[in-house]
Amino acid sequence: MTAIVYFSRPFENLIDGKKKYLQVGNTKIVAQKIAKILNTEMFEILPQIAYPEAYEEVVTQAEQEKGTNKRPKYRPFSLDLANHQTIYLGYPNWWGTFPMIVATFLEENDLSGKTIYPFCTHEGSGMGSSINDLKKLCPDSMIRIGLPIRGSRVEKSTIAIKNWLQHEQSKIK
Ligand SMILES: Cc1cc2nc3c(=O)[nH]c(=O)nc-3n(C[C@H](O)[C@H](O)[C@H](O)COP(=O)(O)O)c2cc1C
Repeated sequence: MTAIVYFSRPFENLIDGKKKYLQVGNTKIVAQKIAKILNTEMFEILPQIAYPEAYEEVVTQAEQEKGTNKRPKYRPFSLDLANHQTIYLGYPNWWGTFPMIVATFLEENDLSGKTIYPFCTHEGSGMGSSINDLKKLCPDSMIRIGLPIRGSRVEKSTIAIKNWLQHEQSKIK
């Protein structure tokens, strides 16, 4: 079976250089589209302590978390990994890679032998170093080609998502 696991932070963000308040985070919108296309369950990585709503505050906090290689705690959810061979893993690009709370999830769950399809929303840096960082944390997983989507384009990303899903899945026998 396949599952989608993602982290996404709504609230204030900088989109195309302008402050914008997002009711639903960009990555969550992409996760919802993938879930609809694949008819797959979604699991959200929710922080135990919510991230700040203010953009500058979360940027500072995220920089500190990356600098100290922190592992922020998330609220437990009931994903039975034994029954899931394929994970679609979604996250925003924070300071060039996935947020440290995603690293917490990857370290607390054994994804050895599983196939991971990463997808990421960003404001210009694409997937950054997240694929390499993912390979380091999950050396025994099959990491497939990732899908980067610009935050301001998520609403219009359905075709890009479908192309990515078809292209990637056609390579699996
Ligand atoms: C703390 C923080 C750090 C960010 N760092 C980067 C970055 O290094 N490169 C980039 O392209 N975008 C960066 N962004 C922009 C986000 O990746 C982008 O807005 C993303 O779509 C947010 O997804 P979300 O709404 O699902 O959280 C950053 C945003 C935040 C809040």
